[in-house]
Amino acid sequence: MVRSTFVCTLALLCAVASAQYSMVKEFAGQTFFDDWNFYDNFDNLTNGNVNYLSAKDAASQQLAYINSRGNAIMKVDNTTTVKFPDRRNSIRINSKERYTIGTLWVADMLHAPFGCSVWPAFWSSAPTWPQGGEIDVFEGVNQETRAHMGLHTAPGCSHTNTTLQSSTVINSTDCSIYANSNEGCIITNPTTNSYGAPFASAGGGVFVTEFAPTGISVWFFTRSSIPDALQGNASTIDPATLGTPVATWTADGCDVTEFFEPQSLIFDISLCGDYAGSSTSFYQTCTGICYQDWVLGDPSNFDTAYFEVQHVRVYGQPGELTVINSSASHLRANALGLLVTLVALSLVTFL
Ligand SMILES: *[C@@H]1O[C@H](CO)[C@@H](O)[C@H](O)[C@H]1NC(C)=O
Ligand SMILES: *[C@@H]1O[C@H](CO)[C@@H](O)[C@H](O)[C@H]1NC(C)=O
Ligand SMILES: *[C@@H]1O[C@H](CO)[C@@H](O)[C@H](O)[C@H]1NC(C)=O
Ligand SMILES: *[C@@H]1O[C@H](CO)[C@@H](O)[C@H](O)[C@H]1NC(C)=O
Ligand SMILES: *[C@@H]1O[C@H](CO)[C@@H](O)[C@H](O)[C@H]1NC(C)=O
Ligand SMILES: *[C@@H]1O[C@H](CO)[C@@H](O)[C@H](O)[C@H]1NC(C)=O
Repeated sequence: MVRSTFVCTLALLCAVASAQYSMVKEFAGQTFFDDWNFYDNFDNLTNGNVNYLSAKDAASQQLAYINSRGNAIMKVDNTTTVKFPDRRNSIRINSKERYTIGTLWVADMLHAPFGCSVWPAFWSSAPTWPQGGEIDVFEGVNQETRAHMGLHTAPGCSHTNTTLQSSTVINSTDCSIYANSNEGCIITNPTTNSYGAPFASAGGGVFVTEFAPTGISVWFFTRSSIPDALQGNASTIDPATLGTPVATWTADGCDVTEFFEPQSLIFDISLCGDYAGSSTSFYQTCTGICYQDWVLGDPSNFDTAYFEVQHVRVYGQPGELTVINSSASHLRANALGLLVTLVALSLVTFL
């Protein structure tokens, strides 16, 4: 405890000297799936009509694999005719490592799942929920074309300051899970190719999340307008070069250090459930009955229900503790952090 507090204090000093983040982790290529846990249970969290497979079943049923382009595919079963009252097979994975406040995450997707009943998300959560907070970076349902973003927290966190973001479509501002039936503080991405068929035909895009003490921000870039800073395999990123984020929850309305703990990254694809299947969202873009007509219906409805991910990269502030092992007792500072710590320790000794 004392040791990690000390490291973080140093890190804040270091962060002032550098607005850059450096790569601490890359999920890509043949090893993409190595450092995630597969949920291996039916959806007992959001009441979706899916079984989330184990790593072994996901591989053998070809619902999670690396394709010929070297990209990670995560998909819903589109070959089985499911019978009442069964569930359709799908994927939910969470990163074994957790990433602290002071990290930046880049997710480059060529395709994301869509179609009636389909509910995908790329998001993050702390093991203690809601105390540790949840960040929904990318979420969409059914045949929508605009993704949305949101936070879910303990009471006391809200979205109060909209001056630093480009979206003017603000659905709700109280992030507490006890407000509005856990709607969260939701911001819609105004770009009409941020989800669904238009997202796929644009070749997807890149989502960047900055998880900083000053606030949580999300940027979205459609494939044709990815900035230079995110081209290739950048080892460092300065968010000042990314322009205005589409969404920002600033610390004046939500004290990030109070409402958030280190986050595990998550991809999942549910069907129907609390959100895609709710009558208010389902009938905006679909007809019929979500489970009976779509989950149990023609499996070809799920031909478009897949993620194709080029990479997920995590960047940290030099000198800061950024990665926490799934077993909470194993803390790791990045290499530069250790060096800074050693230098600082020798300074302390010297003084
Ligand atoms: C969901 O299922 C898993 C695996 O059986 C279990 O560990 C977890 O407690 C369940 N969660 C809820 C909310 O029921
Ligand atoms: C919004 O946040 C920015 C940056 O933290 C700050 O400069 C500005 O004063 C805030 N505006 C309001 C209305 O709180
Ligand atoms: C947010 O508001 C927009 C505009 O009213 C609406 O089209 C959209 O469905 C809402 N999204 C959510 C998630 O509530
Ligand atoms: C990207 O760079 C990191 C180190 O900065 C390296 O580990 C990784 O293999 C590189 N990825 C690709 C696709 O070249
Ligand atoms: C299932 O979806 C994939 C794309 O994920 C597609 O290539 C395939 O043709 C679809 N249909 C069947 C029957 O596998
Ligand atoms: C996590 O802990 C394991 C076991 O102690 C260790 O082998 C591994 O290197 C650690 N990973 C990180 C990222 O710290």
